[in-house]
Order: sequence, then C-alpha cells, then structure tokens
Amino acid sequence: MGNPVLRRIAEPIADPTDPAVARLAADMIATMLDAPGVGLAAPQISESRRIIVFRVPADRSEGEEVANTVLVNPMIEPLTDDKVLGWEGCLSIPGLRGLVLRHKCIRYRGYGLDGARIERVASGFHARVVQHEVDHLDGVLYLDRMDDLRLLVCTEEMHHLNAALAAANKDAPTRT
Ligand code: NI
Repeated sequence: MGNPVLRRIAEPIADPTDPAVARLAADMIATMLDAPGVGLAAPQISESRRIIVFRVPADRSEGEEVANTVLVNPMIEPLTDDKVLGWEGCLSIPGLRGLVLRHKCIRYRGYGLDGARIERVASGFHARVVQHEVDHLDGVLYLDRMDDLRLLVCTEEMHHLNAALAAANKDAPTRT
C-alpha cells in the first residue's frame, strides 16, 4: 500500500491467449500460493493489467471448493441487494484484517487463458474474494470499503471481533 500502481485503473488485456499473459498468470499463482493467500490481482505485482487469480480452499468454502482460477478482464454483477460483513486481509496491506461489507451473491464473467468465456454465480467467501480482487483492478483497496475503522485490527487480535461479526450478520444481513 502506498505504491501508486495499486491506485491505477488497470488496462484491459487484448488477447487472453497471449503466452505473456499465461506467464503472468503463472507468476501470480505462484505468488498467491507462496504468501500464502487466496487471491491476487496483477497490480499487486506491479502489472497494471486486468487479470486476477484466486482460489477457495475447502476450509473457507462453506461447502464449495474452487480450484486455482485465472480470470482475464473480469466483470461483476450483484445478484441481490444483500450484503454481508466478513474478514478480509490483503497481501499488499500486511498484518491487518478488516470486516468489510460485500455483496452476498454475484455473477462474474471473464476469460480464461484459453480464450474461453467464464461465467459463474458465487456467494459467501467465493463472492467476497472475487469482489476484493476485482476492486484491485480499479485502484480500490478493502480499506476504502470500510466506514468503521474500529473494525480494522491487527491479525493476531481478530478473535476479539468474531462475536461482534456473528451478531452483526445474524441481526442485519442486509445492512448497507
Ligand atoms: Ni488484496
């Protein structure tokens, strides 16, 4: 955070099947797994281009595991007005976690490295990860989505807020 590349609008990718795009994606997946993280957007490795990678591990999936996915020129469409609070961290903002309100259910579209269209409906953690990564392509960090910075904590202090999170989502799942 602080590097101007994270605040730029990233450039669309003209040809998802360009071998240079495949090399960039492989580098991004390696970086994500090494961190370890669940998602990465190209601006985070100083490439201002519209490509993200993500995964939904079994222990975060709420029943739906998603293998490493590459999405070129992604677009998001919320499917309902429901929003939900959940924890987010970012490899570009080490040591912190925040409770961020996101659309609960989305449809996302984009292209794979083979040039084929990808279109999926996602909810829960899957939807959250994709929204976080697509924000990076528009120069937006999760901190920008927070109206209450009391919900921003050091990673090792997260447990103090988990009861508050459970109550907030139970009482007001559509809070905006
Ligand atoms: Ni991030």
